[in-house]
Amino acid sequence: MQIAGKNIVLTGATSGIGSALLRELLKRDCTITAASRRAESLDIEHPKLLKKRCDVSKREDIDELFSFAVQQMGTVDIFIANAGFAFYESLQNPDWAHIQSIIDTDLISVIYAAQKLKALKGSQPFSLMITASAMSWLSIPGYALYSAAKAGLRGFADAYRHELSPGQHLQMVYPIAVNTQFFHEAGSRKPWPSQSPEHVARRMVKGLQNGKNHIYPSRLFLLARMIFPFLLRGYVLLEHRKFLAQFREGP
Ligand SMILES: NC(=O)c1ccc[n+]([C@@H]2O[C@H](COP(=O)([O-])OP(=O)(O)OC[C@H]3O[C@@H](n4cnc5c(N)ncnc54)[C@H](OP(=O)(O)O)[C@@H]3O)[C@@H](O)[C@H]2O)c1
Repeated sequence: MQIAGKNIVLTGATSGIGSALLRELLKRDCTITAASRRAESLDIEHPKLLKKRCDVSKREDIDELFSFAVQQMGTVDIFIANAGFAFYESLQNPDWAHIQSIIDTDLISVIYAAQKLKALKGSQPFSLMITASAMSWLSIPGYALYSAAKAGLRGFADAYRHELSPGQHLQMVYPIAVNTQFFHEAGSRKPWPSQSPEHVARRMVKGLQNGKNHIYPSRLFLLARMIFPFLLRGYVLLEHRKFLAQFREGP
């Protein structure tokens, strides 16, 4: 899909991958509604940039985001569901609200936005791009809820794609670790290897242009997943040790 002239909604635009992607997209003559809880404090000004405060974990905020985007831009051609967060933790105590907080933001909000976009567009073309994660494929110790949410997105996308009309794309992005606030917010240290948000953003733009269903910013990860899965099993073992050191070995 050509990006110039398109009307785009981007969630999670205030930092990290979303912020880098916003800067890349603004070079391409499109109109963007940037949405997140702190959208109004976004330090980028551009005549084709609109800012909308939105907590994606709230259904009414997503409804409002779509109404705002249609009112201000006329329609939505591309929706990029990028907002998300993780917990790095040991799941010791059953806690419904805790589970729901991450599933609402990382999984349900995206499914709901997909349905809203489809309802808005009918059989007209659109692109829905979802920032999933390498953890959609590879569950890492300490990230059980996050891994569940991101694997859930992949399951949803692979089935929902069959309900779309010709010209409608549902694109999944699977970044490995990225140098953003993400790990700090999650309560963990950034693992090795990692990539820059700018690199991931460029791969996402390329993905929008070529319409591929699956986008892997790290080719090494794709190669390991397809051909050398033992490398990934080794990685999980190392993470398992790290997890035990942090959560199980105490005085
Ligand atoms: N960093 C990584 O290693 C990595 C790897 C794979 C996938 N990802 C995925 O990439 C996406 C972006 O993460 P990042 O690395 O750029 O992290 P980040 O720097 O922490 O950015 C997260 C973004 O999501 C927004 N956000 C969080 N909760 C929200 C909510 N309830 N409603 C609206 N916006 C919300 C935040 O904005 P506000 O605080 O203003 O709401 C922020 O703009 C996430 O989906 C994450 O799961 C990250």
